[in-house]
Amino acid sequence: MQRDGINNSIWQEVDVPKLPVLPDQEHAEIVVVGAGITGLTAALKLREAGKTCVILEANTVGFGTTGGTSAHLNTVLDTPYTDIIEQHGIEKARTVLKSTREAISIIQKNITRYKIDCDFTPCSGFMYAENDEEEKELKKIKNALEQVGIVCSEVAKIPIPAPFIYAIEFPEQARFHPTKYLVGLVKAYTDLGGQIREGTLVQQVKEDDGGLRIKTVDDRIFSADFVVYATHTPPGIQLMTFRVAPYRSYIQVWELERQKDCPEALIYDMQEPFHYFRTVEQDGKSYLLVGGQDHKTAHHDNEKKNFRELEAYIRRLYTVNKKTYEWSSQYYESQDSLPFIGYYPGKKHHRELLSTGYGGNGLIFGTLGGAMMAELVLHGKTAFQDVYSPSRTGPLSTIRDLLVENYDVAKHFVKDRFFLEKVEGLAELGRGEGKILHYEGDRIGIFKDEKGKLFAVDPVCRHAACIVKWNNTERSWDCPCHGARYAPNGSLLTGPSVAPLKLWDFETTIQ
Ligand code: FES
Repeated sequence: MQRDGINNSIWQEVDVPKLPVLPDQEHAEIVVVGAGITGLTAALKLREAGKTCVILEANTVGFGTTGGTSAHLNTVLDTPYTDIIEQHGIEKARTVLKSTREAISIIQKNITRYKIDCDFTPCSGFMYAENDEEEKELKKIKNALEQVGIVCSEVAKIPIPAPFIYAIEFPEQARFHPTKYLVGLVKAYTDLGGQIREGTLVQQVKEDDGGLRIKTVDDRIFSADFVVYATHTPPGIQLMTFRVAPYRSYIQVWELERQKDCPEALIYDMQEPFHYFRTVEQDGKSYLLVGGQDHKTAHHDNEKKNFRELEAYIRRLYTVNKKTYEWSSQYYESQDSLPFIGYYPGKKHHRELLSTGYGGNGLIFGTLGGAMMAELVLHGKTAFQDVYSPSRTGPLSTIRDLLVENYDVAKHFVKDRFFLEKVEGLAELGRGEGKILHYEGDRIGIFKDEKGKLFAVDPVCRHAACIVKWNNTERSWDCPCHGARYAPNGSLLTGPSVAPLKLWDFETTIQ
């Protein structure tokens, strides 16, 4: 399986079955954009209901966040229920819990129905505090968990060797192998006659004669009654672009000296940003997965440092044999702590649906979002639709946060330009490095590969013209504004942009 970064995730070690070659289907009742967990969950449910369905995937199955997830199935979300209650009230917070339980149940039903072998393992969750301040916060979280209906208990032991002064345990969590599950969904969907077209980037969707006209970047046209966006943010500059913000998380997998030290639980500390621990299986052996160091995309000077810090952190806790994987992955935070799932806001029709803003809970909300969008297509209504409606006008804090995010975007833009004025020449660029340089008054993004070959791009993001930043661990040009990402040679990795970076005619401009 391929992914949107140079580092390999443990989840990529699966084979995606060869997709059946079917006759070109230019009209489908539903076009699903994106073949991650959201798109596949929706498409499978729609095929089960007998609908004609085509998935258009810009790259390959699982290429985006599903292939780089940290893979927890949690009803105790990364956003604490204290925040959800504060922003949305206790009743909605209870509904959120109900919906997360529903998501796990959907996964379990698919596993059973389609006999998907994906290491699904129910387990407990733990959170622990290392100082008084964290303890105070964790006690508030425990209180909020109990208010929404999660049984949790104070414990004197946690399953990792970290020092703590206070800890809680809560049941009903789970882990699984996300891409084995995804491959199971692909098989189930294609066995039912569903189509997936990889390498097909949607550029534009327009209303047309009572339906929708979908144009791809290679000028192919599809038509559909409904379009389901399973792409984080729909392509292009859209309202939703401004209601979610891109973040990155860093993940490592370690072989421990003693396999039995791998914890059979999901464990979270209370640091800011927090760390998480869980166990993954590979070829019959257990490994420790640890992650954290989250930050806003392209808002960190040296991404590699996050891996070094994560490694130092884990070495303080465990005797390790070796690190087997490390990678980073992108997710989108919503402005008011809850995902947006439902009809695309501001449209006169109810034919376009989206699901985004999952925070660090993409497998849960991707499953829920896929199922809810399918329900809306099939029946015009679904459980939980009010809570997650993309048309909701959030509480006051939402507006403030939105302004902060937008201010952040502007600030970054100015900072980049100022910074660029001071950047010195190409000679300082090492092999394997990328940098924005100035060339005769123009900005130029240059990457030098291991052999010394140079790639030069125009660093202006093709989405809304922010300046991209070099990500020195995933080797990509990342946009700080809405999270579009590009390969070293400028080709598009992930939206919301729908075009590659412009290239400099390097051979003729720099020697
Ligand atoms: Fe919006 Fe780059 S992703 S400007």
